[in-house]
Amino acid sequence: MDLSNKVVVIMGASSGIGAATSRLLAKDGAKLSVAARRLDRLNEIKAEFPNSEIETFKADVTKFEDVKNVIDKTVEKFGRIDVLYNNAGIMPTAPLIEGRRDEWQNMLQINIMGVLNGIAAALPYMSKAKSGQIISTDSVAGHVVGPDAAVYSGTKFAVRAIMDGLRMEQAENNIKTTIVSPGSTGTELFNSINDDDQKKFAKDFFENVGGLQPEQIAEAVEFAIGTKNNMSVSEVIIRPTRQTL
Ligand SMILES: NC(=O)c1ccc[n+]([C@@H]2O[C@H](COP(=O)([O-])OP(=O)(O)OC[C@H]3O[C@@H](n4cnc5c(N)ncnc54)[C@H](OP(=O)(O)O)[C@@H]3O)[C@@H](O)[C@H]2O)c1
Repeated sequence: MDLSNKVVVIMGASSGIGAATSRLLAKDGAKLSVAARRLDRLNEIKAEFPNSEIETFKADVTKFEDVKNVIDKTVEKFGRIDVLYNNAGIMPTAPLIEGRRDEWQNMLQINIMGVLNGIAAALPYMSKAKSGQIISTDSVAGHVVGPDAAVYSGTKFAVRAIMDGLRMEQAENNIKTTIVSPGSTGTELFNSINDDDQKKFAKDFFENVGGLQPEQIAEAVEFAIGTKNNMSVSEVIIRPTRQTL
């Protein structure tokens, strides 16, 4: 796909779905700003595409000043921002009875506030330009609740609600909103699970359902970005075929 007319910011681009999307959009010729806490990983991606315009940023999505810096520097460098992809997330699932309040706090900060920080930083530019697209990685867990994933599901239900509100508020400004909701996908996300039983459950589930690869989710993001101005892909749910949840 030719996306050479697009300036795209990807938050959470250092591994998994964000890294796969960065690579796919770089191949499509998009001008990219890629951000995450692991700058070395971002620079590895940049090095793979010496002929592409890719800016890398060390940024923590829980810190508004970091996120605003990425957006502001992108606009300075490329003159505008067409797409913000809020992809950063963690999934430390565990039963509520374990009371892992620090993990809950981190999930709320990264999975929800991270998305809101992106919206707060990018929306003023987009609404002024009366053009733009904000994409967030949601999850099947943002549509269906499962035991031991209550807080993760809660964060992803919140993302779905926030993004739908954004859609309605900004329709008059031609701003597209998209949530991409993957099922089980083979990434580093399982490393964010600290409960041993849950980590095993997630890995076994991935094997049993024939989990997806991050490149397959990236194709949905590419599709949503490539649509014509009058067409907005609001939601995409992508499951492994054998995943029933
Ligand atoms: N894999 C699945 O089965 C699945 C299913 C449904 C939804 N999702 C969602 O997909 C998204 C991407 O996850 P993934 O599966 O690709 O896992 P991943 O490989 O662990 O990628 C997570 C990304 O988020 C970034 N991140 C985490 N905390 C951050 C922070 N505080 N500030 C900035 N970046 C941060 C990580 O970068 P750094 O660590 O370098 O900061 C990394 O780039 C998440 O929102 C996840 O909830 C995944």
